[in-house]
Amino acid sequence: DWTAAHVVEELVESIREKVGDSRVLCALSGGVDSSVAAALVQKAVGDQLTCVFVDHGLLRAGEAEQVEKEFVAATGVDLVVVDARERFLSALAGVTDPEEKRKIIGREFIRVFEQAARDVVGSRGDSDHPVEFLVQGTLYPDVVESGGGTGAANIKSHHNVGGLPEDLQFKLVEPLRSLFKDEVRQVGLELGVPEAIVWRQPFPGPGLGIRIVGEVTAERLSILRAADAIARHELSLAGLDRDIWQCPVVLLADVRSVGVQGDGRTYGHPIVLRPVSSEDAMTADWTRVPYDVLAKISTRITNEVREVNRVVLDVTSKPPGTIEWE
Ligand code: XMP
Repeated sequence: DWTAAHVVEELVESIREKVGDSRVLCALSGGVDSSVAAALVQKAVGDQLTCVFVDHGLLRAGEAEQVEKEFVAATGVDLVVVDARERFLSALAGVTDPEEKRKIIGREFIRVFEQAARDVVGSRGDSDHPVEFLVQGTLYPDVVESGGGTGAANIKSHHNVGGLPEDLQFKLVEPLRSLFKDEVRQVGLELGVPEAIVWRQPFPGPGLGIRIVGEVTAERLSILRAADAIARHELSLAGLDRDIWQCPVVLLADVRSVGVQGDGRTYGHPIVLRPVSSEDAMTADWTRVPYDVLAKISTRITNEVREVNRVVLDVTSKPPGTIEWE
């Protein structure tokens, strides 16, 4: 019989066997897979593990704190936080092309992670117990998709991160390789990973960077973050989290339209709601969110986020529309 407790026991045992007394490094993204993988390794080898969280400033409201505070409190991992917000903003200045944004974000991520990894190797490793392993949250479907091989240390491609340099070659620990997503969630709950992380919907590695149509700036990020937080909160309150696969909230930063708010005429930006239902993100349909929930979201966003004067709903399936706007 499959029980999470039993699976945890087996995985912990095999991690211990594999890692021995070497040191281990893990890049946390705030997502389910890397969090559960890290929690398992922590349970297995405790303080031999160091996690690195690169804060690129493209996360949604509360997500960095979720990793830095709640996840650490729940699991006790040794966490190194790299505040790279300014660096990513400078690298993205003036860039509007979606693929260009992805490339830049991926490239900066590698650079920042490399430096953090070197620092950790320098400060946490020693010659008897060098940092030798890198944790990856690879799931069974990823293994099948990539033909089952285990390559050299590549940070999972959804971070758009390529190979690490020669002097940073690690062996991989991939404790979730035999699990499906729902099993990973059960294992996460068994390990006490915070529910907000365990049940988190898919969120792209480049984050809000590809949900601002136009240049990414600090001000635009804060507008989008505020609108997104309202949409997420209301969808959750309405009990729709499990019906919705994910709901990108998109800022059309280069579009302005006329509105009336308070006493005057405004010239603000539209926010797009993109709730979709899906099994695997390959195809998707727009979710029929009840009108009263949409009304609440629209009223709150236009009242509470000054720069936004319109909320529109995306009613396109995939195909032809992708889930994200960029
Ligand atoms: P699309 O927009 O292609 O998205 O229908 C399908 C799924 O992939 C996610 N997505 C990404 N995830 N890096 C990621 O890690 C990316 O560059 C990226 N682009 C899209 C999207 O959120 C959806 O779940």
